[in-house]
Amino acid sequence: MAREVIECALDDVEGTDYVLLVADSAKAATGAAKGEPIGFAVFGPTPCAEGTWDLYWIAVDPEVANRGAGSKILAAVESACVRRGARLLKVETASKSSYDATRAFYDRRRYTVAARIADFYAPGDDLVMYVKRWSRETR
Ligand SMILES: CC(C)(COP(=O)(O)OP(=O)(O)OC[C@H]1O[C@@H](n2cnc3c(N)ncnc32)[C@H](O)[C@@H]1OP(=O)(O)O)[C@@H](O)C(=O)NCCC(=O)NCCS
Repeated sequence: MAREVIECALDDVEGTDYVLLVADSAKAATGAAKGEPIGFAVFGPTPCAEGTWDLYWIAVDPEVANRGAGSKILAAVESACVRRGARLLKVETASKSSYDATRAFYDRRRYTVAARIADFYAPGDDLVMYVKRWSRETR
């Protein structure tokens, strides 16, 4: 799925509105070679909504996790959304324990749980929907 969304963003596929952001090792201090991609995000305006954006994917190379790259990518996504008039950014993740760190990552960056669908991904693995909102004053 990630590959499909990235290809849509790269190919500028008609009918899709994906923005791809890639972080390289020059921008986030890591052990990776300079210029090497170390993480990415794909996001875009939510179809049929006003000022609502979706963060479809954010991922960092596990080799360089917990060194600040994810925070920088997320901050860049937020800035890009706000610049384009976003008032709300939505991201969906899972409740299973392997996503504990991911949910903590959003909690720490002031995302709030707006909805939860029990057993969405699998029995016992809920969909957890986080949102971050910007008021007119904070945009
Ligand atoms: C979620 C994800 C993108 C976070 O990326 P990351 O690069 O590890 O994130 P950061 O390094 O910025 O932050 C992670 C923690 O490391 C800490 N950290 C940041 N810089 C640090 C440094 N220089 N030294 C030590 N710790 C540091 C941060 O404080 C943060 O902890 P906190 O959330 O309690 O504040 C990454 O773990 C990932 O790709 N996960 C798998 C894919 C995934 O789950 N994506 C989301 C799907 S919805």
